[in-house]
Amino acid sequence: MDVLTAMKNRTSFRSFLDEPVPVDMIKNILEDASRAPSALNMQPWEINVVLGSERKRLSKKLLKAFKERGITCGPGAARPLPETFMLRARKCAEDMTPLINSMGQDFKKYVNEGSLGFYGAPCVIFVFLDESFPCERMVDVGSFLGFLVLAASARGLGSCPIGLVTSYDDEIRDFLNISDSKKLVISVAIGKPDLSKSINNFKTIRAPLSETVRWVD
Ligand SMILES: Cc1cc2nc3c(=O)[nH]c(=O)nc-3n(C[C@H](O)[C@H](O)[C@H](O)COP(=O)(O)O)c2cc1C
Repeated sequence: MDVLTAMKNRTSFRSFLDEPVPVDMIKNILEDASRAPSALNMQPWEINVVLGSERKRLSKKLLKAFKERGITCGPGAARPLPETFMLRARKCAEDMTPLINSMGQDFKKYVNEGSLGFYGAPCVIFVFLDESFPCERMVDVGSFLGFLVLAASARGLGSCPIGLVTSYDDEIRDFLNISDSKKLVISVAIGKPDLSKSINNFKTIRAPLSETVRWVD
């Protein structure tokens, strides 16, 4: 699959089949993602892959923490966001809601508990960044993430980035036995999407360039 087709086809899936992904395929995807550019080729991303029954054991721990602390998916902004961005987030939730409701599920419960259950994916990739790096190196992790989801899509797998885990990072570091000096940046659920589930028909729209780009000529 060429890169433009992969970019057009990729979408986030929110229901996965309980079928293992071959380890060699995960290794290939990680090799592909490692081709992402990074400042001075430092490749600052530090990866942990959690599979199968360990993934389920971790999700149990996260769902317990969610019941106790109740931190939910949201923009996670330090200050109120400009209206433009809030409108896009609202539109995303509004468009997703009927698909989730049609499966007999409540939107908030499905997305929050689903995120911490990695939507049933058999493989989760956690990406950490050493805290000695300045926040600019998040760009490098972002480029790794972009390459990772495209590689998964091009290799016939589905993915969903899961940022909610960063609110439960203590539990994850404890589970993975990782020091506080590593910042959890993002996780990505990977697996075969369950195409019988209507949520997996969800295709997000994008703002026109006239809203996001200013030309100076
Ligand atoms: C940094 C980041 C964090 C995200 N966190 C979550 C999450 O916790 N739960 C979830 O269901 N989707 C999450 N997503 C997926 C986004 O909702 C999705 O990428 C966005 O709506 C655009 O849709 P698309 O990926 O299908 O194009 C996240 C995506 C990114 C890039």
